[in-house]
Amino acid sequence: MTSRRETQADPTGSSTGRFDESSTRGTGSRLSTHTTFVDRELGEWYPPVIIGPSTVGGRATSAGCVRGVIDVLRALEPDDYTRYLLAYYETGLARFGDDWRYADITTVLLAAAEISKPKDYLEIGVRRGRSMAMVAAAAPDCAVVGFDLWEAGYAGMDNPGPDFVRAQMGALGHKGKLELISGDSHVTVPAYFESHPDASFDLITVDGDHTKRGAAQDLRAIVPRLRVGGILVFDDIVHPQHSYLADVWHSQIVSDNSFACWGFTELGYGVALAVRKE
Ligand SMILES: C[S@@+](CC[C@H](N)C(=O)[O-])C[C@H]1O[C@@H](n2cnc3c(N)ncnc32)[C@H](O)[C@@H]1O
Repeated sequence: MTSRRETQADPTGSSTGRFDESSTRGTGSRLSTHTTFVDRELGEWYPPVIIGPSTVGGRATSAGCVRGVIDVLRALEPDDYTRYLLAYYETGLARFGDDWRYADITTVLLAAAEISKPKDYLEIGVRRGRSMAMVAAAAPDCAVVGFDLWEAGYAGMDNPGPDFVRAQMGALGHKGKLELISGDSHVTVPAYFESHPDASFDLITVDGDHTKRGAAQDLRAIVPRLRVGGILVFDDIVHPQHSYLADVWHSQIVSDNSFACWGFTELGYGVALAVRKE
């Protein structure tokens, strides 16, 4: 058989092979447990990742996932945007039932967390905790670290800050460690990684600085910390005010062969996800 991944198999059977910590891809070269399959006895025929982005995207666009998001949103303090979203979701489901296909950052994160069972989640751009809440609801023991400036009046809405977010996560029954770090992500994220040199994550969302340069910088900062089999979520790829974010996603992630990618741009502001293959 020539198809076996002989070059990556360890003849002694004792090391972790290609995906060990000596990889040049940083601490993210660790495997995400639930989304990878490795059996040393049977050998490495395929790369270790056992889910592709369409597994997550398929669930994220389902009516069942939208119903799950509605349940989580109802447990949170509403604002004008979530009131609008609840009415939009309920109308889509009432008119089109199980045929309705829709995705946004919340359906993608709920699906991603249900599927990947993350132990460690990192989020840049938390605001009121709406996206973080999806992960907390699906994986209540997951350790979560969130970064935000909590910029007052962001997008014309209130941005009450970390105490509010902590209370929202508590209301959802989140039991894992929760770190909320205030400040500019271009400073705080590198500083966090410097003080946590071994930190890596199963699931990461980048939804903070929406400038072209800033969003690219955030993506570059987190990529080395995403585990193999880990899932990356990026929002607003067809938002009318940030339409360049699709190019940012493409140049930073889609063009990188280590990722398998998926996107939804039919409705809303668009959302993208990637699974790290290697
Ligand atoms: C789109 S909102 C996040 C929404 C949240 N992910 C959700 O789905 O509900 C973007 C957030 O990023 C924050 N932000 C913008 N620029 C930032 C920066 N340079 N560093 C940290 N946070 C930033 C804003 O304060 C705002 O709360």
